[in-house]
Amino acid sequence: MRKPLNNEDTLQEPKTVPEISGGWPLIGHLLDFQKDPVSMLSRGWREKGELVRFRLGPREFVLFTGPEAHDFYFRAPEDQLNAKAVYQFTVPIFGRGVAYDVSPEIMTEQLGFLFPALRETAMRRFVRIMFEEASEFADTLGKDGVVDLPHAMNELTVKIASRCLIGQEVRDQVDSGFAEAYHDLQKGINTLGFFLPRLPVTAHRSRDQARRKVAQLFSRIMAERRLGGIQPDDFMQTLMQARYKDGRVLDDEEITGILLTVLFAGQHTSAVLATWIGLELLRAPSYLERIRDEAQDTYRETGIMELSGLKQQVVLERAVREGERLHPPLIVLIRKVLKPMRYKDHIVPAGTLAMVSPAVSHRLPHVFSDPEQFHPERFSPPASEDKQHHYALIGFGGGRHRCMGKNFAYLQLKAIWTVLLDRFDLCLDTAFPTPDYGSWVTGPRAPCRIRYRLRSQASIFR
Ligand code: HEM
Repeated sequence: MRKPLNNEDTLQEPKTVPEISGGWPLIGHLLDFQKDPVSMLSRGWREKGELVRFRLGPREFVLFTGPEAHDFYFRAPEDQLNAKAVYQFTVPIFGRGVAYDVSPEIMTEQLGFLFPALRETAMRRFVRIMFEEASEFADTLGKDGVVDLPHAMNELTVKIASRCLIGQEVRDQVDSGFAEAYHDLQKGINTLGFFLPRLPVTAHRSRDQARRKVAQLFSRIMAERRLGGIQPDDFMQTLMQARYKDGRVLDDEEITGILLTVLFAGQHTSAVLATWIGLELLRAPSYLERIRDEAQDTYRETGIMELSGLKQQVVLERAVREGERLHPPLIVLIRKVLKPMRYKDHIVPAGTLAMVSPAVSHRLPHVFSDPEQFHPERFSPPASEDKQHHYALIGFGGGRHRCMGKNFAYLQLKAIWTVLLDRFDLCLDTAFPTPDYGSWVTGPRAPCRIRYRLRSQASIFR
């Protein structure tokens, strides 16, 4: 087995990581990065290779690119490459005492409580919910019309996530207050919040007010459950019954915080990826027909969407994976270097912000052939381009902070597009959009509308 590269691996004097060309005094590469980070970072890789340095104002960054460099990055211990130091902007949203406000060990323990709630039996139930919500959403669309796709996918995934990842009571409140509070909380994730999360500006005040509203709602639900002895099989209940290793139960504030962590990690990312996948499929009509044929074959006999059926839909799965490759919702992942790191013959000093970019790495021509093309077949044998290296695809991260919701996300994306393609003929009503790099999760720039019409064929679902 290959040993991870580390400080002792070479006797040569370590070199400084080379800088990407085009930096300015004081602002460094800020303008290029704001305009199009993926082009700028890809240029860095082409110019200088696996490790490149750049500056955003006073901050020094090093980008690790390519499967081997990812492997090194994701294996690094938390006391060397630290997530908590970078994700402090989430503390006012998730709350005190959870996630990036506590030690990595406690965060792991907190998220660990949820693993049983993501097991196969739970997934079977979630698939039914995903199907019901997607079908109900399709019903609201009527026979034909035009829809803003990012908005539609956001609404749908809020409903699915609130029902599956929190509890039915929260889903019931989506239209009467929860969606609005959640939206205000989301607005708290902005560039200012990243650097100065506690600055008293309007967006932060609405964020804090929304946080209080959500906490009240969750506490009320928990109180009602305790009083009525109701114990539904969901994330909230799992946390209400959990105990830390030292025997302590979680208080309402911690439960709220963990639920918000999962909701924030899983909802908007899913909405954005669902949007990109739809957009790509609409410009790949022959592949889209293969997905429909596969769905016909899968559900012809039962007419019921189930976990086993979704798992069989490999043609659709490849399209989802290709969506993840071309449009990873999180285009960069960041850690703070707490102890100097040596990678091959370069040294990355403490204090640097270390980055991997799924969007850049998923476009490496030596890893993915013809990388700009939407070509789901790249994932089928014999090419199986994703299997050539453990860390070729990193849209869901890797190492100790890898996404715990990847399977959930894949099932959800597959359920949504199976239902919509079964129900409607669809086409783009606007030009294929470019990415909007202005927010933390990279979706398409507006306008992004699709036109739909009910299909003449009967639905495959009963
Ligand atoms: C398309 C949808 C999704 C994408 C693209 C995505 C992507 C990611 C990525 C890249 C990370 C690693 C972040 C980092 O290393 O800094 C991550 C972490 C995480 N994801 Fe997801 N995710 C998605 C859906 C979900 C869902 C549905 C859930 C919940 C069921 C979820 C829960 C989490 C959590 C809790 C973490 C933090 C893990 C940790 O830091 O230990 N994600 N996700």
